[in-house]
Amino acid sequence: RITELDSICLKAEVIPVLAIQRIEDAVPLARALVEGGLSVLEITLRTDCALEAIERIKAALPQASVGVGTVLTPAQYRQAEQVGADFVVTPGTTEALYRYGVGSPVPMLPGIATVSELMVGWQYGYRRFKFFPAEASGGVKALKAFAGPIPEARFCPTGGIGINNAEDYLALKNVMCVGGSWLTPKSLVDAEDWDAIRSLAREAAERFHH
Ligand code: 3PG
Repeated sequence: RITELDSICLKAEVIPVLAIQRIEDAVPLARALVEGGLSVLEITLRTDCALEAIERIKAALPQASVGVGTVLTPAQYRQAEQVGADFVVTPGTTEALYRYGVGSPVPMLPGIATVSELMVGWQYGYRRFKFFPAEASGGVKALKAFAGPIPEARFCPTGGIGINNAEDYLALKNVMCVGGSWLTPKSLVDAEDWDAIRSLAREAAERFHH
């Protein structure tokens, strides 16, 4: 489990978080990000076409690791398994999700924002977490503080992260990668400007190293 998540999270410093509005955008958008050097994607279940988008991206870009994000319930977790998700990401956690994830073949990156939530996940055996919403929940300072009581936990912070503060997070020992929506600005997606998105991905891929 830990090894599986580490191999995904250490593949790229930055995980683009996507909410795909138009199904036709799914493959060209994902391809631009992967070609730019970001081969781990989180596709959120925030839009109607998300599941179909994941299926199409998995089929077109077998080299990409595709996570299903914004999973709120075990039923959605099951849907993520069915469309071939490589991992599942949740914004927060419930006991039901923690329990479901333990038995699933698809590993989960549970979202936590406090030490208490982290402790519950720890009890279930989880060691890798999403820290969300990172900037609003104390940011770099909070992650440094988490390393006191639970130094073995590793995080992918998201929420309010961009090109200007990603490095501050990646410099922390307990941060594996960061995630965010800044690589897919709505204006560029609406304009189908895949070249510009490829450039944003390349900028992030080249700038950040572990
Ligand atoms: C997420 O679910 O990870 C966030 O929506 C990403 O946050 P951001 O839009 O602030 O990057």
